[in-house]
Amino acid sequence: MTRKIIIDTDPGVDDAIAVFMAFASSGFDVVGLTSIYGNLPIDITTDNARRFVELAGRPDVPVARGADRPLVVDDIGPVPFIHGDNGLGNAELSDPTVELSALHAAEFIYQTALAFPGEVTLVPVGPLTNIALAVRLHPDLPGLLDEVVVMGGNAYSPGNASPGGEANMLHDPEAADIVLGEDWPLTMVGLDITNAVSLDHAQLAAISAVDLPPNKLLAAAMPFYQRFYEDNLEGFEGLCPHDAVALAYMLRPDLFETVKKPLRVEMQGMGRGKTWPADPYHLSQPGSPWAGRPEVTICTGGDAVAISELIVAELTGGTA
Ligand code: RIB
Ligand code: CA
Repeated sequence: MTRKIIIDTDPGVDDAIAVFMAFASSGFDVVGLTSIYGNLPIDITTDNARRFVELAGRPDVPVARGADRPLVVDDIGPVPFIHGDNGLGNAELSDPTVELSALHAAEFIYQTALAFPGEVTLVPVGPLTNIALAVRLHPDLPGLLDEVVVMGGNAYSPGNASPGGEANMLHDPEAADIVLGEDWPLTMVGLDITNAVSLDHAQLAAISAVDLPPNKLLAAAMPFYQRFYEDNLEGFEGLCPHDAVALAYMLRPDLFETVKKPLRVEMQGMGRGKTWPADPYHLSQPGSPWAGRPEVTICTGGDAVAISELIVAELTGGTA
């Protein structure tokens, strides 16, 4: 089955892995990319999204520019030391040529959902600002979407951008709390599983060996991101393709372990950005912060090796 998806992305090397996986897979019909600040500022992430549709041979897929900052407070800032100054590992890049959509990302999401009611799954793999804007501008959006599959959050693990916060949540916790509190079928594919999924040297070589423009870009971009992992995690070899794990979940949910619980996003102090799941006893307490919140499907674990093999298979046409 082929599923229509919009990827809301802040490219980012792992975003590139995810977007090219989506274009390569017969499981997805990418009906749009929307950009968001995050790993790099919005001008850079938007240009990278434009490059992606060109390199994938799909200049017909619309790219809509999104928010340049969080809803309420100043951004924590970009991370060029992880993704390179250009967001793509300082790979040599040509100027993008495809025109941007005239619509803001939030409006593009709504209009696309209206055009295909019940068919589109939204896959946010960056800060959740565009998604919060879309649902606040158009409260009927949840009823128009098939599903929302978010890469972000950490229910039972420490953060990666701070002791408490996962990067996508920490950029805009206020937006994230809106998105996780909406009444729509939402799955959180967060660090509880994505930290366990890595691509090792042989897998990176297999992806890089494919003689196609997306793979050539990945071959040039992935080493910088890989160095961040190998320099900072003792004994670790390879990289974590966080954003691609959300797409793997859509293709093979049977490879994942999940629980259903309401979530809140921490707003304060060192825990800002932490996603907190509630157990029944939390909900039973008077004034529970989770009162009235919908259940979210939370990925808590899974078959990390099979997930990594699936990502590689999609990016190599099954040749690896
Ligand atoms: O925590 C991982 C997430 O943060 C990924 O989406 C990565 O691209 C960064 O945005
Ligand atoms: Ca991302």
